Amino acid sequence: MTFVSNSLIKNFPYKITVRKNLDRLIEDVVDVLEDRLRKRLYLKASKPLGLATGRTMVPIYKSLVARLIAWPSKDLKKLLKEWSSFNLDEYVGLVDGDPQSFRSYIMRYLGKPLNLTADQLKVPNGASAKPHDQADLYSNQLEKLGGISVQLLGLGSNGHVGFNEPPCGPKGGCRVVHLSEATREQNVSFFGNDLSKVPKRAITLGLKEILAAEEIHLIVTGGSKSQILNELLHSPCTRKLPASWLRLHGRVFLWADEAAFSL
Ligand code: GLP
Repeated sequence: MTFVSNSLIKNFPYKITVRKNLDRLIEDVVDVLEDRLRKRLYLKASKPLGLATGRTMVPIYKSLVARLIAWPSKDLKKLLKEWSSFNLDEYVGLVDGDPQSFRSYIMRYLGKPLNLTADQLKVPNGASAKPHDQADLYSNQLEKLGGISVQLLGLGSNGHVGFNEPPCGPKGGCRVVHLSEATREQNVSFFGNDLSKVPKRAITLGLKEILAAEEIHLIVTGGSKSQILNELLHSPCTRKLPASWLRLHGRVFLWADEAAFSL
C-alpha cells in the first residue's frame, strides 16, 4: 500500500511515501539513493553526501551496499573513487575505535563493505580533547566543499535530527551539544543498558547545515516513532520540535512505514 499524497496532511510541504511493509519502504528509499548516486557519475564535481546513523539506517545501508556491488565495475570504481560523505554527528568522549562510536558504525556498514577510507567517510572527531575545535574544523571542511547534496536523516524519539536536541532553532551550525535524557535513554541499549556509559555530549551538524542541503530524506520507521511522527506532521515550526524546521526546506522527502505512520 502506498500513499504519496500531501493532501493527507494540511499544509504539509514534504513529499510523503508510506509503505505497509518495511522491506518495501527500504527498497523504495534505496531506489532513490541509487538514482542520485548514479547521477553523480556524470557530474564534474559533486557535493558530499550527508549520512545518518542509528537503527533506522542499518537496513538502508545494507541494501544500498548490495545494490552498489552489483553495478558494472567501471561505474562502481568511479563512484567509490570520488566518494565523499559527512556524517551528521558523533558522541564526545568515546575512545577512538569504540564500537559504539558513529565512526565505527559507518565503517562497519559502508566503509568496510565498499572499501571506503575513513577520510572519504568524514565523521566529527569526538575523541579529541578539544571537541569545540573539532566542531569548527568539521563545519569548515564541509563549507569548503560547498555543503551537503543529499542528506539522510533519522528522527529521534524527542524530535531531534542529528543531535539537534529540543529546544533549538533553525540557525545553529555545527557545534558541541548536551544530549537530553530522552536521547541517552533512546540509545542506552547500545551501551549495555547502562546509562552511565552513554556519553553526555556530542558534536552535531546544525539545522543550518542540514537546511542548506540540496535535498533531504527523512526516514521514520517502527511503532516507537508513531507519536513523534504524528506530532511532526501536525506541528508548525517550533523550537520544541527540531525536525519541524524541515518545513523551511523546499525539497524534503518523508519516508515512513505504516507502523510509524499509524497515528
Ligand atoms: C540518534 C542519532 C540520529 C538518528 C536518530 C534516530 O540518536 N543522533 O542521527 O537518526 O537518533 O535513531 P534510530 O534510527 O536508532 O531510531
